[in-house]
Amino acid sequence: MQKIHGYCRITMVALLTLATLLVAGLTSAKPANDPFHKHTIRAEGIEASFIEYGATITNLWVNDKEGTPRDIVLGWDDTTQFNLQAGVPGFLGAVVGRYANRIGNGTFSIDGNVFHTPLNEKDITTLHGGDMGFNRLNWTLLDKGKDEISFGLTSPDGDEGFPGTADVTVKYKVNDNQEWHVSYEATSDKDTIMMLSQHTYWNLDAYTTSDTVEDHVMQIASDQFIKTNGDLIPNGEFGDVGDTALDFRTPKPIGQDLMEATECGFDCVGYDNAWIFSDPDPEKDQVTVYAPSTGIQLSIKTDQPALQFYSCGGLDGTALPVKSGKKHHHRKHERRCEKETRYVQKYGCFVLETENYIDGINNPAWGQEYSGILRAGDTYTHSAVYTFSIRNE
Ligand SMILES: *[C@@H]1O[C@H](CO)[C@@H](O)[C@H](O)[C@H]1NC(C)=O
Ligand SMILES: *[C@@H]1O[C@H](CO)[C@@H](O)[C@H](O)[C@H]1NC(C)=O
Repeated sequence: MQKIHGYCRITMVALLTLATLLVAGLTSAKPANDPFHKHTIRAEGIEASFIEYGATITNLWVNDKEGTPRDIVLGWDDTTQFNLQAGVPGFLGAVVGRYANRIGNGTFSIDGNVFHTPLNEKDITTLHGGDMGFNRLNWTLLDKGKDEISFGLTSPDGDEGFPGTADVTVKYKVNDNQEWHVSYEATSDKDTIMMLSQHTYWNLDAYTTSDTVEDHVMQIASDQFIKTNGDLIPNGEFGDVGDTALDFRTPKPIGQDLMEATECGFDCVGYDNAWIFSDPDPEKDQVTVYAPSTGIQLSIKTDQPALQFYSCGGLDGTALPVKSGKKHHHRKHERRCEKETRYVQKYGCFVLETENYIDGINNPAWGQEYSGILRAGDTYTHSAVYTFSIRNE
């Protein structure tokens, strides 16, 4: 106990000194070459922070039904910790690419030319662009305004085995309707494959009442899912969601059929599947999920044809601390001193990746538009709109 108090006092002194130094050196908001420095954008009832590392979202604040701001995305209070995200939880809040989701056997071909990408998942598949996917790179801050920010990245020819030098941008914008707009663009100087997505881990309860998201009520406008083998690689077939745990056509709690959801890989229980939107209309809500406790509801519109929904079965209560839930850095340290650190538990979050069909490049029978091929000179675009509202039960 004495030791802890001593540590805390030293931390507080160090923080005060740091604060003094910061105030004294108050010249610019952004220290040079710090990809872990937070940049915040805001509009009425919404505030979001990002770091250049991974073009990652670190915080997203919206009001709950009582009007209290809640941070509903997972992350590290200490942003330098995002650098450790090679393991669990991977891809935390980042943009994933060059080819999101999985590539079977880390092998694909374009017009007969065969390419190999790193087998960074169980030594058999490429997950989210390989060992050093876009989530682990330092993006460049391109532009920042009050309510919008954009980041850019150049991925060289041969990066993680992918052909062509690719230029990628992501633009994040918030507005007074409590919407978060994400728009991606990419070009390449050689034919390549491109599939980007945002890998936010959500918890709309903000850990105020529960350790899991099992009570969150979800709806997905999808009749079909992409069938996979035990390594989560498509077997080429689509399955009907009817009479399966994957049926979210009418809203139901995530926990309702969770134990029957076993198509999430070998020896796995939970959701990690790709749903095909029945009506891929960018003006329609394709996914809606809300937490009865806070009333916070998230709806997603997108121009993409599919969605990967992962129910955080890989978290185990040791890897990632629950964030402090405080807006200001110093208050976090006070709390740390008083309280034991709480960790994110299994099923303690969910991920919703809007994207093209998983491994479409290795399933040409599905059609060219699902292949993910980006021809030299063409532009890949992807937009997703995350709308927050209050749902009173
Ligand atoms: C699987 O990948 C290996 C090398 O990574 C390659 O030699 C082999 O041809 C690939 N198999 C298929 C079926 O593509
Ligand atoms: C990203 O920036 C950090 C901090 O400057 C640095 O330690 C790291 O090596 C960079 N990562 C890459 C992939 O260049």
